[in-house]
Amino acid sequence: NVLILDFGSQYTQLIARRVRELNIFCEIFPYNNFPTDLSSYKAVILGGSPYSVRSEDALQIDLSEIRGKLPLLAVCYGAQYLAHFSGGEVAASNIREYGRANLSYIKEDEVFFENVNLNSQVWMSHSDTIKHLPTNGVKLASTNDVENAAYKIEGETTYAIQFHPEVYHSTDGKQMLENFLVKIAEVPQNFTPNAFVDDCVKDLQEKVGNDKVVLGLSGGVDSTVAAVLLNKAIGKNLYCIFVNNGLLRKNEFENVLHQYKDMGLNVKGVDASARFLEALAGVDDPETKRKIIGNAFIEVFDDEAHKIEDVTWLAQGTIYPDVIESVSVKGPSATIKSHHNVGGLPDFMKLKIVEPLRMLFKDEVRRVGATLGIDPELLGRHPFPGPGLSIRILGDITPEKVRILQEVDAVFINGLKEHGLYDKVWQAGAILLPVNSVGVMGDERTYEKVVALRAVESTDGMTADWVHLPYEFLMKISNEIINKVKGVNRVVYDISSKPPATIEWE
Ligand code: XMP
Repeated sequence: NVLILDFGSQYTQLIARRVRELNIFCEIFPYNNFPTDLSSYKAVILGGSPYSVRSEDALQIDLSEIRGKLPLLAVCYGAQYLAHFSGGEVAASNIREYGRANLSYIKEDEVFFENVNLNSQVWMSHSDTIKHLPTNGVKLASTNDVENAAYKIEGETTYAIQFHPEVYHSTDGKQMLENFLVKIAEVPQNFTPNAFVDDCVKDLQEKVGNDKVVLGLSGGVDSTVAAVLLNKAIGKNLYCIFVNNGLLRKNEFENVLHQYKDMGLNVKGVDASARFLEALAGVDDPETKRKIIGNAFIEVFDDEAHKIEDVTWLAQGTIYPDVIESVSVKGPSATIKSHHNVGGLPDFMKLKIVEPLRMLFKDEVRRVGATLGIDPELLGRHPFPGPGLSIRILGDITPEKVRILQEVDAVFINGLKEHGLYDKVWQAGAILLPVNSVGVMGDERTYEKVVALRAVESTDGMTADWVHLPYEFLMKISNEIINKVKGVNRVVYDISSKPPATIEWE
């Protein structure tokens, strides 16, 4: 188990992902709030930070239980921190060192750089530079601009690097992490999907025993994998509820419910479409839509959960990025959209919470799902927002608009699948615009709806690029939509990236 300490760098989660890719389990904690008992940790990594060690508000950490006691790798800010506070010198550099650089010097026979060649590309992102190494520091590598790009401390298993090994632009970054963690720190590489499933099932059985657990299925990857794990652990004591809010994709409710039953899950489908659509009637503000849907979901879910006698646990598909308590250097970020994932715990239910996936990243959830034998098509599904089509119908929502959008979306998504494009896209969908446009069909003037198609590439939804779908494909889909879907006479394609646009239009 590896401990990663966060100083507020945007790259900290990426370090964790690279470590996990080596089948090594790791956890992220804030630099000023980590476990006092470090006996289960085999190594510690200090991450980067937007702060300067020279500034008055430099983030300070008590390393007394770490340095010299556990193998330590200090990255970027961490490397400067060790230098600045242990007898070295850090100064503002003349130029901000940002971007690609190459290792022009590597100390010979150094395990940290095993299988790393001279000139290996590394990624720099810092404005201070280490002028003098700390006491007992030994230089391990340089670039043309950065003399002390890597060093170690004689007599300790402490290593420090100025560049970021976790970003892909550092070509041998993963090799260096492996050298440090496996060869130097001797951390076992035993965190595999199979091992996770075995441990998790055992933990769940111990924790839950013969109690009953209720879980809200959404059709998405996380809740599905959580359900299958729990089903494996406690079988029929798991009660799944799948709510149709009337804003799902075309035929989604029936199809997915069927799939869940085939997987042997104890699932109840609840069609509450009418209730949701009534509550939404006349509402056009996006945040109000989200609130109404969130509340309606809780009410429906609570009604259903109360029908299960003696249920004491609520299972949720929470994953690691939602859990990590990152250091917020700029304070809480402004609310752009409230992304309450449907399925939040209503306080009055008084259930204990179980979250089997709370230590996993999304790609790990998919791998665990594959190990559990879940249909790859289900695991490869695009993300779909909890409020569903409601935030893709701009303006107020009516059953007729939902029908139109479901049809348009189905043509688009099926088209992507038929043309082998679905898996190349991170998320796709259609948006119904609140305007009519003039068209001509046969000899008749039409005055009908405009729809937008959106397809983005992304890794986590935080940033996204629009996908350059082939013109031929867009042409075909546009024709098919206008010919097949009554009420639509114009199709446009969204070519905005995030930022400054967002993925959803509302
Ligand atoms: P944006 O539009 O903020 O979306 O760029 C980023 C990702 O979040 C999804 N999204 C939501 N998911 N409830 C959800 O569960 C929401 O209210 C919500 N709003 C946006 C969006 O689909 C994309 O994957």
